[in-house]
Amino acid sequence: MKAAEMYKVEGYGAIVTGGASGIGLSFVEVLAENGARVTMLDVSQERLDAETKRLKAKGWDVRGMKVDVTDHPALDRAFDETAKLYGRLDVCFANAGIDPGIGFVTVDRKQRVPEGAIENYDDARWNRVIDINLNGVFATIRAAARHMKPRKSGRIIVTTSMAAFEIEAGIGASYMAAKAGAAHLTRNAALELAKYQITVNAIAPGWFITNIGGGWMTKKEVQDEVAEWVPLRRVATTEDMKGLALFLASPASSYITGAQMVIDGGSNIGNVFD
Ligand SMILES: NC(=O)c1ccc[n+]([C@@H]2O[C@H](COP(=O)([O-])OP(=O)(O)OC[C@H]3O[C@@H](n4cnc5c(N)ncnc54)[C@H](O)[C@@H]3O)[C@@H](O)[C@H]2O)c1
Repeated sequence: MKAAEMYKVEGYGAIVTGGASGIGLSFVEVLAENGARVTMLDVSQERLDAETKRLKAKGWDVRGMKVDVTDHPALDRAFDETAKLYGRLDVCFANAGIDPGIGFVTVDRKQRVPEGAIENYDDARWNRVIDINLNGVFATIRAAARHMKPRKSGRIIVTTSMAAFEIEAGIGASYMAAKAGAAHLTRNAALELAKYQITVNAIAPGWFITNIGGGWMTKKEVQDEVAEWVPLRRVATTEDMKGLALFLASPASSYITGAQMVIDGGSNIGNVFD
């Protein structure tokens, strides 16, 4: 099979949660640029409007809907409406996520931070992150499965994190629990849905420049500091995400399910500082 056929998503119907910014926006772009019809679900009306306008101007078939992944009935309605409009739902990226705020040490991991300590971690902060980063993924997978199962085909891709398998102590505890939970939920859904030819995989990003956490990774000094820990010696841009996203959304990955693909410039294998 030629590469163009293997990676073909033309005519697909797709949904991306948290699609109006960062990593989610890169999923929207790579699908739409390759001929898929893509709906971005996001809480930011402003970003939805701006990105829809920008991408439509390129001639791409995109639309935006303001939906919070913690509002499960609204999420279900958005999936129903989108699947009806497209006549099919081929691809779903369960991507929406937030940063939980400071962990129990500073980001350089050199100093303890009292407000991130477990004894001071309040319920509101814990629950908010679990609600979006874990419960939101559950509700998104559920909504996608309802549309994909009758057609016996589909691709569900969950954005996890390196935090799913190692502790990033500078990031709050709730994020570790949510991402590890999302990774294991991915495997559970993959096993359950395999019989219906629906694949469910996760993407675990390392350090990407996006708007998460108020956009702290957009600062040059932060990028330079983090780049020192990364074997490939740079942080990632959202362009780096597109090849893997297209691979997992397309026929090229047809025999892969239950996998968590790490895209981190080698960060999980160790560091050298020469
Ligand atoms: N940037 C990184 O380095 C990095 C690393 C590992 C994992 N991730 C994960 O990648 C995913 C995307 O994050 P990003 O870095 O692109 O951040 P981002 O802030 O640039 O984009 C996230 C988008 O999700 C939307 N969103 C937030 N809460 C939502 C909700 N309740 N319902 C619907 N939409 C909501 C935001 O409005 C935003 O448009 C997240 O799951 C995040 O945990 C990011």
